Amino acid sequence: MIDWLAASPLSQFLAAHKWITPALQSVHILAIAALMASVLVVDLRLLGVGGDAGSLRQVTCRYIAWIWRALVVLLLTGALLVVGEPARELANWVFQMKMGLVMAAAGLTALAQRPIREGAEASPQRRPSWSAAFACVSLALWVGIVLAGRWIAYV
Ligand code: HEM
Repeated sequence: MIDWLAASPLSQFLAAHKWITPALQSVHILAIAALMASVLVVDLRLLGVGGDAGSLRQVTCRYIAWIWRALVVLLLTGALLVVGEPARELANWVFQMKMGLVMAAAGLTALAQRPIREGAEASPQRRPSWSAAFACVSLALWVGIVLAGRWIAYV
């Protein structure tokens, strides 16, 4: 798999044009900023910390949509980074752990977004009882992904 990817025309193209990798990394980092800002707004709101502008439903709907948009950009730029340097990424256990964490965080967000919206509709004044637990696990997963992403370069 690694050898096949490294020999592919796209990988050769990325290796021959040295400016593309830092450009992709820059877009990856901008998308991380958008994703983490949205995660913080949603999770802190679910924890009852910080501002109370807008209803819980408005805030969660608006910012969960931004989590998905940023994740699409991260997936595209991340996939190209992998194709550019397949051995560096795919053989690295921290990269593999990061992908596991991304799947867990995305899966948790996908599973929880509907109950969060319905809970916020049913009782606009009160947060659902499980919202603090969700917010803590979600924050831990996304922060873990950022740490793992940075750590890849050192393993
Ligand atoms: C969705 C699929 C994703 C893929 C395939 C992917 C892939 C990658 C790759 C290949 C790198 C380069 C690592 C290196 O060689 O040093 C990287 C860097 C990084 N990624 Fe991702 N990533 C994804 C999502 C995310 C997400 C969701 C986050 C955080 C919320 C994230 C945070 C980071 C960070 C912090 C770095 C280090 C950036 C730097 O210092 O240049 N990634 N990612």
